[in-house]
Amino acid sequence: MKKNGSTKITGILGYPIEHTASPCMHNAAFKALKLDWEYIPFEVKPQQLKLAIKSIMSLGMQGVNVTIPHKKAVVPFLDELSDEAEFIGAVNTIVRKGNKLIGYNTDGEGFIKALEEEKISLAGKNVLVLGAGGAANGIIYQLLLGGAKRITIANRTIEKAKALGKHFKGKGNIEILPLDNSLKSAIKDADILINTTSLGMKDADVLLVDKNSLPKSLEAVVDIIYNPPETKLLRIAKKKGIKTMNGLSMLLHQGALSFELWTGKKAPIEVMRKALCQQFKM
Ligand code: ATR
Repeated sequence: MKKNGSTKITGILGYPIEHTASPCMHNAAFKALKLDWEYIPFEVKPQQLKLAIKSIMSLGMQGVNVTIPHKKAVVPFLDELSDEAEFIGAVNTIVRKGNKLIGYNTDGEGFIKALEEEKISLAGKNVLVLGAGGAANGIIYQLLLGGAKRITIANRTIEKAKALGKHFKGKGNIEILPLDNSLKSAIKDADILINTTSLGMKDADVLLVDKNSLPKSLEAVVDIIYNPPETKLLRIAKKKGIKTMNGLSMLLHQGALSFELWTGKKAPIEVMRKALCQQFKM
C-alpha cells in the first residue's frame, strides 16, 4: 500500500529488534483489512526509551508494542494502565487515546487464547510453571483467571519464585519449588507443564525436566519458545504422545489482541497466522 499523509503508524520498540516477527503479521493484517496503517520496528536503546515513548504522542502514532528489555521500564512513562498491566507491572502494548498513553499487556491473554485454540482447558487443573520471570508473571495471572486449581512455580533462583508467589498471595493456590528432586514428584501431580524459561532455544540446552520424568499422563506440555518451533522439551513430550503447544500461537494471539486495541477491528487471525508461518518457514 502506498503511504501518504494519512497513513496511521504503529510499531514495536525493542533492543535488539532485528529478529522481530511482529511487523510481518501486523502489516499483513492491515493489508487484508485494507487499512492505511503501517507497523514499523524501532531499535530503542534503554537510555532512549523515555524519549521514544514521548514521540508516540509528538509524532501522532496510534500506539506501539513494547518488547525486551522495555516491558517493565516503560510503565512510569504512561498515563494509565489496564488492571492486568498494573498488577504484573509490565506492558507489551501502548495505545494512544487522545492525549493519553494507555498501557496494556496482551501476553497472558494471548497465551490463554492459544490454549483454548488447542483445546487445553485450565479449570480445575494442576499446572506446573517452570520459570519465575516476566513471562511467568503474565501467564500465572491468566492461569488463575482461567480457574487453575493449583499452580506450582519451579525456578532456579528460589527467591524469585518466592517473590512471585507472594505477589499472587490470596489470589489462588500457589506452591513454590526449587529445581531439585522435588520437581520430579511435582511433574507426576501436574496436568499441564509450561516452560516459561529461555532454556530450549538452543538444542544443546540441558533441560530442567529430564526425559524419563515426563509422565505420559500429562495432558499437555507447553513451551513459550517459538524459535525453534519444536524445542527438545516438546519433542520429548510429543514422542510420549502428550499434546504439545509452542509459543507461536501465543505470539499470534497477543499480536491479534494488540491489533484490536489499536484499530477497534476484529483481527484477521488466519492472515496473521499465515504471515507468521511464512516468516518461520513452517
Ligand atoms: P522473561 O521476562 O522472558 O520471563 P526473565 O525475567 O529474564 O525473562 O526470566 C527468565 C526465566 O528463565 C527465569 O525464571 C530464569 O531463572 P532465574 O530466575 O533463576 O534466573 C530462567 N532461566 C534462564 N536461564 C536459565 C537456566 N540456564 N537455567 C534455569 N533457569 C533459567
